[in-house]
Amino acid sequence: MSDTRQSKTSKATPIHLLHESRFDAWLSSASPLIQNWVAAHAFKAASGKHLVAPGSDGAIDCVIVGVSDPMILWDTGSLAKALPVGSYALAGDYSPAEGEAALLGWLLGSYEFDRYKTAAPATAILEIPSGIDAKQVNAIHDATRLVRDLVNTPANDLGPSALAAAAESLAKEFAADCKIIVGDDLLTQNYPAVHAVGRAASDAPRLIEMTWGNPAHPTIALVGKGVCFDSGGLDIKPAAGMKLMKKDMGGAAHVLGIAHCIMALKINVHLKVLIPAVENAISGNAMRPLDVVKTRAGITIEIGNTDAEGRVILADALARAAESNPTLIIDFATLTGAARVALGTELPALFCNDDSFAQDILAAGDRAADPLWRMPLWPGYRKMIEGKVADITNSPEGGFAGAITAALFLERFVPAGILWAHLDIMAWNVASKPGRPEGGEALCLRTMTDMLLTKYGRT
Ligand code: BES
Ligand code: ZN
Ligand code: ZN
Repeated sequence: MSDTRQSKTSKATPIHLLHESRFDAWLSSASPLIQNWVAAHAFKAASGKHLVAPGSDGAIDCVIVGVSDPMILWDTGSLAKALPVGSYALAGDYSPAEGEAALLGWLLGSYEFDRYKTAAPATAILEIPSGIDAKQVNAIHDATRLVRDLVNTPANDLGPSALAAAAESLAKEFAADCKIIVGDDLLTQNYPAVHAVGRAASDAPRLIEMTWGNPAHPTIALVGKGVCFDSGGLDIKPAAGMKLMKKDMGGAAHVLGIAHCIMALKINVHLKVLIPAVENAISGNAMRPLDVVKTRAGITIEIGNTDAEGRVILADALARAAESNPTLIIDFATLTGAARVALGTELPALFCNDDSFAQDILAAGDRAADPLWRMPLWPGYRKMIEGKVADITNSPEGGFAGAITAALFLERFVPAGILWAHLDIMAWNVASKPGRPEGGEALCLRTMTDMLLTKYGRT
């Protein structure tokens, strides 16, 4: 990961963050040259617009940036790539929250997936605004880069073994414990469902288990779907549906990113991260339609469709997470196309077995400008996941309410009494927006970090 932390220089160009309502007052005390320049460009400081203003020598004097009220991080999201390469610094009065938002938006907008580019493009740099909590901004920025890099890396360089190596390197950075169970050991150690989905791939399936923090703190378990490529299996996806499926380990990337935030900020929790890492591939030993798969919890699964593989591997990981008797379990998964049909690509679907916990998450989403939407664990649809020859099916007939029935399937593996949230996420920007370049994306990472910080605090 490249270090893009901003450094101080003396020749930084001033950036004026201005809401439309404050713009006229600011302009009236600016130089006639700047007043003329603003008039010539009919610039009104609408949010998302900026104007580079020259001095009398033709060099850049300052940059005027229109922002929202209240300011949000995306107001500065396009500047790192839009402005001439150089150093910039916030000018005038701003609150610590505004300074943090401005820096975070700028940093997130500077992201470029450059692993395979022979020359990495330079971006404009923002000095660290004074009075802000740079530690939190840096943690979120580093974690978001980690998620984006992992999701963007193609499956030929990010199979289950490489995903496990990424988890091990994160664990090493923060002196966490990391155990990995590989291949046929999954059978002897009772992870039959992870093995069934991943056994056809040449890069063997594995279960990644990371542990960090003081065991006296509340245990929280993060579980992430790590399907490094989802071909669909024998129920193979058509080309258009398969194309983006390097991102099907987005849930795993999210739990590593959130783990990064928890460990970097030393949040007062005892952390467990569980990632079933597989490739859903096709071979002579691939899982077939109507195979019956055993799970760690003892519940049997009828494979109605080999393309509904995420819930099958998560069954074993959730059962394992429950064994550590956690206060709460949160899982992240690029689980269903149906969640995208219901809420689009930008809004993760939240399913939660507790109203007050759901409220905590939604409130954090509002604070972090990182929204998500709650959907129901509707009991009336439980009958849809009943199996014909096994206990449950991974692919209900008809396909209606696909995101809900997938969540109800996962619910079967979470014992009553444990707070549980399930996030069905896209993990991908289908088009670039300020601060959010097209490609792999962390969704609800800021939300979860905020929720955990609010609930547990940090040392
Ligand atoms: N990884 C996909 C879900 C997915 C597709 C997420 C596109 C985001 C964008 C998952 O494994 C899958 O294929 N699910 C099927 C389930 C169905 C066969 C019951 C789906 O959603 O169509
Ligand atoms: Zn699938
Ligand atoms: Zn999948």
